[in-house]
Amino acid sequence: MQEHHGHRWLRWPSDPVRPRLGFGADYNPEQWPRHVWDDDVRAMKVAGVNIVSLAIFSWARIQPRADEWDFAWLDDIMDLLHTNGIAVDLATATASPPPWLTTAHPEILPVDRDGRTVWPGARQHWRPTSPVFREHALRLVRALAGRYGSHPALAAWHVNNELGCHNIYDYSDDAAAAFRQWLCRRYGTVEALNQAWGTAFWSQRYSDWAQVLPPRLAASHPNPTQQLDFKRFSSDALKDHLRAERTVLREVTPGIPVTTNFMVMGETKGMHYADWASEVDFVANDHYVVPGPQAFDELSFSANLTGNIAGGRPWYLMEHSTSAVNWQPVNVAKAPGGLARDSLTHVAHGADAVCFFQWRQSAAGAEKYHSGMLPHAGEDSAVFRAVTELGAALRDLAEVAGTTRQRARAAVVFDWESWWTAEHDSHPTDRLRYRREALDWYTALLDLGVRADVVPVTAELEHYDLLVAPILHVVPAALADRLRAYVANGGHLVTTYFSGIVDEHDHVWLGGYPGALRDLLGIRIEEFAPLLDDQCVELDNGTTGILWTDRIGIIDADVEVLAWYKSGDLAGRAAITRRSVGTGSATYVSTRLGPAGLRPVLTDVLDTAGVHSELPDTLRGQVELAVRQSADAEYWFLVNRTGEPRELSGVEGTILYMQQAGDTAAPGVLGPHAVSVLRRRQV
Ligand code: GAL
Repeated sequence: MQEHHGHRWLRWPSDPVRPRLGFGADYNPEQWPRHVWDDDVRAMKVAGVNIVSLAIFSWARIQPRADEWDFAWLDDIMDLLHTNGIAVDLATATASPPPWLTTAHPEILPVDRDGRTVWPGARQHWRPTSPVFREHALRLVRALAGRYGSHPALAAWHVNNELGCHNIYDYSDDAAAAFRQWLCRRYGTVEALNQAWGTAFWSQRYSDWAQVLPPRLAASHPNPTQQLDFKRFSSDALKDHLRAERTVLREVTPGIPVTTNFMVMGETKGMHYADWASEVDFVANDHYVVPGPQAFDELSFSANLTGNIAGGRPWYLMEHSTSAVNWQPVNVAKAPGGLARDSLTHVAHGADAVCFFQWRQSAAGAEKYHSGMLPHAGEDSAVFRAVTELGAALRDLAEVAGTTRQRARAAVVFDWESWWTAEHDSHPTDRLRYRREALDWYTALLDLGVRADVVPVTAELEHYDLLVAPILHVVPAALADRLRAYVANGGHLVTTYFSGIVDEHDHVWLGGYPGALRDLLGIRIEEFAPLLDDQCVELDNGTTGILWTDRIGIIDADVEVLAWYKSGDLAGRAAITRRSVGTGSATYVSTRLGPAGLRPVLTDVLDTAGVHSELPDTLRGQVELAVRQSADAEYWFLVNRTGEPRELSGVEGTILYMQQAGDTAAPGVLGPHAVSVLRRRQV
C-alpha cells in the first residue's frame, strides 16, 4: 500500500496487462440471442474493449424463481469473454428485484413521501432498509461470489448499480424504524433529539422514540433538522447496503476488489459520495452531459471532484454515453469529436478506465433510444468508428494509467451538507442552487486559465493557496476553527452569500450573519436581502448581481471593500469585501455574479494569493489544463473549450496524443473542442 493525498492505495481491478487504460461498457447479453454474443465479442475486439460490466440487471435471469438458479448462460458468456481477453466487472445483480420476489414480498417496495407505493415495472424498486430485500439480495450475492470468485475473467465486483438513483428517499415503515435506530445512535436520548431538532417550535416535542417519523407529506414545512437528518440517514442507509454486499464479497472472495458506480454529476445530490469513497476499493463514477452553456465545464467539475474524492488516485469512469441519452426532454446526439473529448476529459482528471452505457444499443425496453458503443445502425456508423478510434487512442495513452492527479494551488470546496441544507424549503429564497454557484466559480477559474481542484470539505485544505467555498452554509464550530487556522497560516479564503449561517443541527449562529464566519470575514449582516426574479443590482466594478444581496456592516479595521453596490437601496453599501489576516485573507461575495461577473474578483484574489495561470496568454480561458503525474513525468491534458482551432505554441512537451477534429488538422494545432496530451519531464 502506498500513501497519496493521505489516502491508501486500495485494490484495483486485476489486469494482466497493466499499465493500460480500461475501455468497455455495460454489457447486457441477456437481451440478445446466443449467436449475437459471438458477434459482440468479435466487435469488442475490433473496438479495443478490454473490460465489460456484466449482469447488472440479470437477477430475474439468474434466479427465475426463489429456489431455481440458472447460471449456465452466465458461465457461457464469462468463458467467452475470458477466451477473448476481455475482463469482467461482475455486478452482484441486485439492482432490480425480479417479479417473483416483489409478488411474494410486496413489503420490499419503497413508499414515497406522499405514501404512495413505488410499484415494480421499472427498476430499483426496493427499500434500502428492508430486511427481507437485504436477505434475498445477500443470498444472490453469495451465490454469485461462490460461483465466479475464481473465474479468470473476474476483475472486480460491481455492487448493485447506481445505488440511490431512484430509491434514495424511502418513507416506508421499514425506513421509519431504521431512521429511529439511526437517530438513537446519533443522539442517545429523545431529549437530545428534541434539542437538536428544535422541537419546542410548533409543538413538535417527542416523548418517545416511537413517535419519530421520516419527513412524510405534512401540512406545512417539515422540521428542517428532521429533513437534514433524513438526508444523512438515507445516504447512510444505502451506504449500509453497499457495506452489507461488500462484507459477503470480501468473505467469499477476499482477493477481488469491490466497487459501485457513483453518480457525481449535475443535481444528483442524495448520496454523500465523499463519505462513501472509503467503502470501495476503487472509486467508480457515472457521468452524463446535460446540455447547457456550462455543460463541458460541468463534466470537468464532476470528473475533478470524483478524482479528489478518490484522493487523487486513479478512478473508473464506469458509464457515460457515446452519444444521446434517453432521459432528457430532448436527447441531443453528440457532435463529431464529442465522444473522445468527453472521455479524455475524464482521463485528464484521473480516470483510468473509460466505459459506457452500454455496449450494444437495445432493440427493446425503455433505453432503446439511448446510444451505445455499437448503435442500431451497426458497425458501419460514425459512432462505432469514433468508438474504435477512441479505443486506439486509449491504447496509445497506456503510460498514463496509474498516474495520479497533480494537485492544483487553488480549490473549490464542495460540501454535501451545505448543498442539502442551503436548498431546504422555508428559506429566504427557494431559487438558490448550491451546485450552480460552485460551478460558476469553477467556470470563472477556467475562463482565467487557472487550474483548480474541486475538493470535498473534508480534504486537506491547508495544501491550497486559495480556497473558494461558495455557499458554505453549514459551518460547525470545528470547521470554523479550521478555516480560521487556514487563513491565519496565510491561506486565502473566498466565500459567498448564505455561508456560515448554521451549525450541524441547522441552528442559526446568533449575533448577526455570516454567523460562524463573521469574525473571520470581519463583517456583520443583520438581515438577508434576496432579490426577486426580475431584480438585479449593479456593482461599481461593472458587474451585475442577481438572486441575493446583503446589507453588509464592516466590523473590522482590516476589511477593505473590493466592490460597492451602486444601484437600488443598497447603493453605496459594500458588495464584496476582503479582510487581510497577516499574509492570508478572507473574501466575501454577497451576490450571485455568474462566471463573467466573478472574473474581476477572482483576478484580484488570485493575484493576492500569488496563484497564476500555467498556460501561455494565448490559451488562457480557451483551453482547460489538467495535469497527471508519475515519479518522473507529468502529463498535460489540454482541452479546447472553444469551437475554434488553437495553436499550442508556448506549451512545452512531447505530444502523446492529438485529437483530430474538424478540418483543422495541422501539426501543433488543437482542433475545435479537441484534446491533446503532452508528456513533460517532472519538474
Ligand atoms: C444509468 C444507469 C444505466 C443506464 C444509464 C442511462 O443511470 O446505471 O443502467 O440506465 O443511466 O443513461
